[in-house]
Amino acid sequence: MKTATIPLRIIDLINRGMDHFKEKGIGNARREMEWFLCEILKCTRIDLYMRFEEILLGNDLQKLRNMMKRRINGEPFQHIIGKGTFYGRDFKVNQHVLTPRPESEILIGRLKNNGKVTSLLEIGTGSGCIAITAALENLADKIYATDISSQAIEVAQQNMTLFSMSTIQLARHDFLTQQFNSKFDVVISNPPYIGLNEMDTLQKEVREFDPSVALTDENDGLTFYRRFADQYGELVNPNGYLLLEIGGNPQKDAVETIFQNAELKTESFKDLQGDYRVVEVRS
Ligand SMILES: C[S@@+](CC[C@H](N)C(=O)[O-])C[C@H]1O[C@@H](n2cnc3c(N)ncnc32)[C@H](O)[C@@H]1O
Repeated sequence: MKTATIPLRIIDLINRGMDHFKEKGIGNARREMEWFLCEILKCTRIDLYMRFEEILLGNDLQKLRNMMKRRINGEPFQHIIGKGTFYGRDFKVNQHVLTPRPESEILIGRLKNNGKVTSLLEIGTGSGCIAITAALENLADKIYATDISSQAIEVAQQNMTLFSMSTIQLARHDFLTQQFNSKFDVVISNPPYIGLNEMDTLQKEVREFDPSVALTDENDGLTFYRRFADQYGELVNPNGYLLLEIGGNPQKDAVETIFQNAELKTESFKDLQGDYRVVEVRS
C-alpha cells in the first residue's frame, strides 16, 4: 500500500488494502482487511461499515501497516490478530498452538451425534478449542485435556479463562511415552499426522507458522494412530470409543488397517469438503 499522503478513510483503506492483498495472492483479501481493522478499532464488521467515512489516524494506521506487512510475509491472519475461530467462537492463538481448522469441527459434530458421556479426554489439546467447545456444548460431565507442550497448555488455560471455564483438567503429558492411569468414555484427538516427507509440500503459512510439534510425528504420519491402537484397552471404557482426526483420503486406509489389525472396529466420516477426516474406533 502507498504511504498515505492524504488522509485515508476506513473504506479507502479496505479497498486499497484489498487490491494490494489480491496482487500478493491473498485469497480472502477484503475479509482479512476488515478483520485487521476490526481488531485495531475494537469493533464489529457492521460498526466498521457504519464508520466507513472515519479517518484512520497515526498510531492505528501504523498498526494496520505492520499487520499487512506480516500478512504479506506469509503469517496467518489468526496469528496477527491473536485469535482463531472454532465452532463459532474466537479462541486465543499464538505461535505455540495450531490455528484451529474448520475441518476439525466435524469432531464436535460426531460427539453431538453420539450423545453426552461421563468422561472425555482430549490428547494434544493445543489452544484447547476442542475440549473447551465440548464443555461449552455440554457434551461430557468431566473433561480432561493434555498436551506435550507447556506453552500450548498455557494458551489452553488462557482460553479456559476467556470462556470462564474452570471444569476442564489440563495437564502436560507425552502420549507417546507416558501412560494414563484411568479410562475414559471418549478419547478424542487431532494428532500430528503429517509425514516428515510431506512437510515441504505444505503452504508457507502452515509450514513456517504452525508449531512443527503440532503438525508432524517426524515419521510417516501414523505414529499416533499406532500408539492409540496399542493403548486402546488401557484408555477407553468398555462401551466407549476413540474419535480421531485423520489426514484426509490418502490416510484413511492406512489408519483403518492399524486399528483393524488390533481387532478394533472402525468407521470413517467425511468433512464438508468430502474428504475422510475422522475415524471412530470401538472394540
Ligand atoms: C494437530 S495439533 C491439534 C491442536 C488442537 N487440538 C486443534 O485441533 O486445534 C496436535 C497437538 O498435539 C500436541 N502433541 C504433539 N505431540 C504430542 C505428544 N507426544 N503427546 C501429547 N500431545 C502432543 C501438539 O503440541 C499439538 O498441540
